[in-house]
Amino acid sequence: MIAYLAPEKFLPELQAELKNIVAVHGNLVLTDGPIQTSVWAQNIWTNAEIIPFESVTQAAKALKSRGLLWALYSFDNHRRAQLIQDQLPKPRPRVMDFLSPLPKDPIGAWTLIDKNTLIASSETNSLFPLGAVAFNEDKTTPPSRAYLKLWELFTVYGVRPEKGQKVVDFGSCPGGWTWVLQQMGCDVISIDRAPLDEKIARLPRIQFMKTNAFNVKPSTIGAIDWFFSDIICYPAKLLELVLEWQSSGLCQNFVCTIKFQGGTDFETLKKFQALENAQVLHLHHNKHEVTVWIRKSSKK
Ligand SMILES: C[S@@+](CC[C@H](N)C(=O)[O-])C[C@H]1O[C@@H](n2cnc3c(N)ncnc32)[C@H](O)[C@@H]1O
Repeated sequence: MIAYLAPEKFLPELQAELKNIVAVHGNLVLTDGPIQTSVWAQNIWTNAEIIPFESVTQAAKALKSRGLLWALYSFDNHRRAQLIQDQLPKPRPRVMDFLSPLPKDPIGAWTLIDKNTLIASSETNSLFPLGAVAFNEDKTTPPSRAYLKLWELFTVYGVRPEKGQKVVDFGSCPGGWTWVLQQMGCDVISIDRAPLDEKIARLPRIQFMKTNAFNVKPSTIGAIDWFFSDIICYPAKLLELVLEWQSSGLCQNFVCTIKFQGGTDFETLKKFQALENAQVLHLHHNKHEVTVWIRKSSKK
């Protein structure tokens, strides 16, 4: 059985995308059949089992016999769940530095669905407890917390530009992404209708253009290695911009935040997913938005 854990507030989105749902417990969706591609799951429990038990000690024993380290997803019976968790080895916090190596040991996930039944999966799709990626944040330099989305993508998924590459950052103000890209050693063309934070604007290798991103023609910029966008706009408008750049042939690597206003635009989301080599995920640091990346090679 495969179980998918929705991020806080995005259970409806997860339910809308999954097939063969057999039960829902809190934000955990249980399914029959093989693993499914999921944009919205924060954590996928790939060998989930339903385990009945009588006592707290028996529950802890059942978990220990299946794996060493466990993360608890608690949505009900919190005290009893915590008593069980307290009998398990305590995992060290997995707090990452930017671009640091990923943790090595897998961590399982479990939840209590009633007083005498738990669901446990010794394997999940993430090395982070319940898929929650935590960083030692830089609380002084970046002017917004948006930089954490790129930190997550670059560190956890290995999707990142190289030193010396030319990148465009659309919708860059106040400058969190531009700062990350500049720190990676890229030459950054940073574009927004609003100005960059002054200390970011002063950094070397940043060229700022104060203009409407949708009026910037690819031919004006020329060939670039990466297209980044965190523009607040309708998904369909962002898709047009990506398609315009793709058909120009001037760029082949794209990283964009698809932001939803009001409801989730599933239709445009599907169009993004259908683009060649595109991968779409709700990153841990995404809000009501998802991140799409499209790589030059078929490497995802
Ligand atoms: C979420 S903020 C970007 C945050 C930024 N990535 C950071 O790390 O600090 C979205 C930005 O999109 C910009 N924006 C919205 N529509 C735009 C447009 N048509 N052209 C350029 N920028 C636009 C807004 O001015 C805003 O600064």
